[in-house]
Amino acid sequence: MVIFGASGDLTARKLIPSLFNSCRKQRLPEDINIIGFGGSPLTDEEFKNHLLEGLAKYAAFRFTKEQWQFFSRRLSYLQGSYADLESFKKLDTALKKIEGGPANRLFYLATPPTVFANIIDLLGETRQLEENNFWRRVVIEKPFGTDLASAKELNQKIHRVLDEDQIYRIDHYLGKETVQNILVIRFANTIFEPLWNRNYVDHVQITVAESVGVEHRGGYYDNVGVLRDMVQNHLLQLLSLVAMEPPASYTGNALRNEKVKVLSAVQPINSLQAVVNHTIRAQYQGYLDEPNIDPASTTPTYTALRLFINNWRWQGVPFYLRSGKKLAEKSTQIIVQFKEPPMPMFPLSSCQNCTPNTLVLYLQPDEGIHLRFEAKVPDTVAETSSVDMEFHYADSFGPSAIPEAYERLLLDALQGDTSLFTRADEVETTWGLIDPILNIWEQDQAPPVSIYPSGSWGPEEANRMLQQDHRDWLIGSKEHIRHTT
Ligand code: BG6
Repeated sequence: MVIFGASGDLTARKLIPSLFNSCRKQRLPEDINIIGFGGSPLTDEEFKNHLLEGLAKYAAFRFTKEQWQFFSRRLSYLQGSYADLESFKKLDTALKKIEGGPANRLFYLATPPTVFANIIDLLGETRQLEENNFWRRVVIEKPFGTDLASAKELNQKIHRVLDEDQIYRIDHYLGKETVQNILVIRFANTIFEPLWNRNYVDHVQITVAESVGVEHRGGYYDNVGVLRDMVQNHLLQLLSLVAMEPPASYTGNALRNEKVKVLSAVQPINSLQAVVNHTIRAQYQGYLDEPNIDPASTTPTYTALRLFINNWRWQGVPFYLRSGKKLAEKSTQIIVQFKEPPMPMFPLSSCQNCTPNTLVLYLQPDEGIHLRFEAKVPDTVAETSSVDMEFHYADSFGPSAIPEAYERLLLDALQGDTSLFTRADEVETTWGLIDPILNIWEQDQAPPVSIYPSGSWGPEEANRMLQQDHRDWLIGSKEHIRHTT
């Protein structure tokens, strides 16, 4: 395995802790070698020490010196340039020496996106992507393009030297245990799926709230904003898993066919009027004072969208999506709100607290599932009250049952399972939904970016968007589902 961008943040923070943990669980191939490739001049020892420091900071597990020694024997470092043919020839020679014969190779691009195409070109030119009984795969980090045109261009460039089934485009949300659980909930049970449609579902809310701000990533974030950073990838992936039809099988292409199908049925927001009606954008107070942010920046750090899916299952059911930084809490959840019963059977006065049935999928933190339904209050004639049934991963599977998303993704890439990676047409379909909104937001007539206080639940406009539909934003927590307005 070769990691490009080996001296960078992602390698120390996510990739090495995940590979090390898989090694501790004896899930890594025994004969794997991990070669870091980067611009910094480091010896093997310096590289290993840098990674060990990273583990002390970022690993969510304890480990022994012996475990580290066992793992770190597989690590080495090669200095090189991403734009220089000689460096790639040197890499090939070094790999051949380590391999001692034909071997599989996984290349991981943990570099800035500006050099993705270059690296793949040079790997192609040095014939390191040709498969002869042994496989060659490339994992590509996000962001994959900055709009539809750039994503298409990148796809075209990499398809010159790679087949689609050699390409593993990362969306780390797909590696999250609870995101995979969306499909298990839907398709390994019989009780939810018959209700999972416009006849019984009133609306769906997807919230990806973060309490942190842009931190040290101002330079990147200010050019990108929340729609590109979170919605094009993570939120639309969540939407596709919640809304897709059952796949023909649990395999990469069957799953991705269904995701592309449902994403293609999302009604585009592609006129000024639609943008005014269905999108909100805002920036947290204090954003302009963060490091590396243009003092006149109008980059949104929060967005809320009302989307509709034009198919038989979901016609007329709104999907409300929201994501933002510096919000009241870190919480990722999907809420399915069911319709009210067709008629009020019980005297209205006793049912004044009746709330429609609600299913919350907690993706993080406190991963789990929460179902709220009505029950009779004891010792009354027919008074009802909402009650809660909950499942928490930590209670059922232990407090440290949930692995880091990258563990799953790296193992899948090594095993050749593409299910949790995005396909070329999928990425292009999501950009096709985002592009028109971004373009219209640029126009003078577009509603301006509003400001929301740090630590709040976002701008008032987002509340009004739901109130127009006689609904409220919801957030679930243990034994509780509350409005965030
Ligand atoms: C990344 C975004 O893809 O996801 C970040 O670039 C964001 O801005 C992060 O903070 C959120 O990921 P998670 O796993 O913490 O929800």
